[in-house]
Amino acid sequence: MFNQTIRPRRLRTSAGLRKLVRETRISPESLIWPIFVVEGENIYEEIPSLPGQYHYSPDQLYRMVERAKAHGVTRVILFGLPKDKDEIGSGAWATDGIVQQGIRKIKELAPEMYVVTDVCMCEYTSHGHCGILCDHYVDNDQTIERLAQIALSHAEAGADMVAPSDMMDGRVAAIREKLDANGFVNVPIMSYAAKYASFFYGPFRDAAGSAPSFGDRRSYQMDWHNGREAMRECELDVQEGADILMIKPALSYLDLVYQCKQRFDLPVAAYAVSGEYAMIKATAKAGLIDEYGVMCESAVSIYRAGADILITYFACELADAIRKGDIG
Ligand code: PBG
Repeated sequence: MFNQTIRPRRLRTSAGLRKLVRETRISPESLIWPIFVVEGENIYEEIPSLPGQYHYSPDQLYRMVERAKAHGVTRVILFGLPKDKDEIGSGAWATDGIVQQGIRKIKELAPEMYVVTDVCMCEYTSHGHCGILCDHYVDNDQTIERLAQIALSHAEAGADMVAPSDMMDGRVAAIREKLDANGFVNVPIMSYAAKYASFFYGPFRDAAGSAPSFGDRRSYQMDWHNGREAMRECELDVQEGADILMIKPALSYLDLVYQCKQRFDLPVAAYAVSGEYAMIKATAKAGLIDEYGVMCESAVSIYRAGADILITYFACELADAIRKGDIG
């Protein structure tokens, strides 16, 4: 008969002991909060598809800054909703474009806030695709030139870091070259290295008005049957000069977060996307789960898989949970 000398439960006997032996440590410093900036004035509206998240016109961004500060969140990633769109998404690189306005406003209100920008065209093109169309196909090489221009315009407006989310080939190299040639050698690139053509982006596309008007994104975003291909995408981005590799979405892709952490020496970011957030919100509202508990558990699982950075709509609530010691 097995004598009970070995008892894993021994280390679970008190909250203090469980905290002592936690394997996953999280800091609020590793959280990035996605923010939607809308062209116009006096706009501060809750986003129906993302309860608890808001559309802010630049003059209302002080509300976001106040909320972030109250929770100790110091990093945001900006998405822009322009008034006008066109075929080539020219609003994306306009000097007075909405993201550029948003960056300046946040830096004016809170210079210490770390501002990352999403570099993409889908919110700015009339057709909702992430690049320049050639017939019905997104033309890779024309698009990466524009992406580099967008990234530069963000850096010029004061962005601390740029994050291309388009999934064109060669865009990291094109952006690096453009930033360097213009004196922004120290603006890092966090590449959405492995970004899947995911159904989990549904609520975001409502929030950002960026659903494609025809077809889907499968000719540029990845097929979710593939995992090895994600490592190839990461490898290429490393070679092109990415500073941080991101896996997106997070929860259904933890195998890739794990592999990315094992294989590469760059910091790994994971994006817990809109559908992940909305599912937790909706199920909790239906009384089926404990929102706080599921939020904590799912975030910790992403870090446990290997994420160093988490981009999440729950940034403020998670920062509180970490500070209270419930996680982290
Ligand atoms: C832009 C972009 C998207 C997301 C981040 N950047 C949407 C898309 O690719 O369709 C999704 C984020 C989320 O769902 O929270 N290309």
